[in-house]
Amino acid sequence: MKILVTGGAGFIGSNFVRYMLEVHPDYEVVNLDLLTYAGNLENLADLEGRDNYRFVRGDIADSGLLDEIFAEGLDGVVNFAAESHVDRSIEDPGHFLSTNILGTQALLEAARRYQVDRFLQISTDEVYGSLGGEGAFTEESPLAPNSPYSASKASADLLCRAYWKTYDLPVVVTRCSNNYGPYQFPEKLIPLFITNALADEPLPVYGDGLYVRDWIYVRDHCSALDRALHDGRAGEVYNVGADAEKTNLEITQTILAKLDKDAGLVRHVKDRPGHDRRYAIDSSKIKTELGWRPATPFPDGMADTIDWYLRNEPWWQKIKSGEYREYYERMYGNR
Ligand code: NAD
Ligand code: TYD
Repeated sequence: MKILVTGGAGFIGSNFVRYMLEVHPDYEVVNLDLLTYAGNLENLADLEGRDNYRFVRGDIADSGLLDEIFAEGLDGVVNFAAESHVDRSIEDPGHFLSTNILGTQALLEAARRYQVDRFLQISTDEVYGSLGGEGAFTEESPLAPNSPYSASKASADLLCRAYWKTYDLPVVVTRCSNNYGPYQFPEKLIPLFITNALADEPLPVYGDGLYVRDWIYVRDHCSALDRALHDGRAGEVYNVGADAEKTNLEITQTILAKLDKDAGLVRHVKDRPGHDRRYAIDSSKIKTELGWRPATPFPDGMADTIDWYLRNEPWWQKIKSGEYREYYERMYGNR
């Protein structure tokens, strides 16, 4: 099978490319990534030089480039490419709309023109909005996005649906909960707090810190995507989660305890506008239909992740000392 992976130099995409080449050594992967601030070829350095892996730098919205790539012949497309950080979407929504919506549409259009057999859209549980204290999102939950990021992802999901209904393009959409693991850009909660704690810098907890996310180890997300790519039913949506609901304060305490750091590093700062209170995901559909199960209990995944950041300090130090510093100052300087 020859697949185009977009956004493969980012966090989940790079874990997925590595996972696929490990589990399906006979597959061919083309990785199309624009290398925005979040894309990093160091995430895939170990794969360079392999015959069945190729990197192309470019934009998913560039139809001319897509024509060249699709003309080579592809069996499937897996679309990770996106602007992915909620706080940045609050700062600058327009950018999220062009990449996440128009970029996805350009990719769908190329897949339609070249009659690709499978289009897998990587979406998020955030399209469902926020939950109260009870229950979990199912695939039937209404879409109720609350941030420019989640609204752009919901729009992309609806375009996928439209390409299935109108053009019979065999699209599958997966909606996953919060991922954590190696190579996550240190703007997101877990890697930000690990790397700040290691540097004895404050951990900026938004509001009361009692917001709940349902966490999944990135490799388990990758195995779910492998199942959905091969056996997901066209036109269907599959929720993916690992039943590990934690408050942000619980995550903070886990990190501090593992690194033997003092709780005095915790700072409660101004809340995120429109902050979703709770996400929880019901993954019974993918479990029943596709036989998928997550394999990594939360404590094991967290221990592995913290160890990875300890062992790979040059990787994150390089990021945190670059343009990221300006972002950090803007986001947290006066918070
Ligand atoms: P990320 O920000 O780490 O990576 C995004 C990648 O996309 C980067 O390599 C970037 O260079 C690339 N990219 C951005 N714009 C592009 C463009 N126009 N053309 C080509 N490449 C472009 O994101 P991530 O956390 O790995 O998330 C990947 C996907 O998974 C996203 O679609 C996101 O919405 C979805 N998702 C993420 C999570 C999570 O917890 N991180 C959970 C569920 C779903
Ligand atoms: P994040 O990793 O940005 O993922 P998402 O918003 O997509 O769920 O944030 C996870 C949770 O952590 C969310 O409730 C916001 C909170 N958070 C903080 O409290 N402080 C921070 O500095 C960051 C980045 C997030």
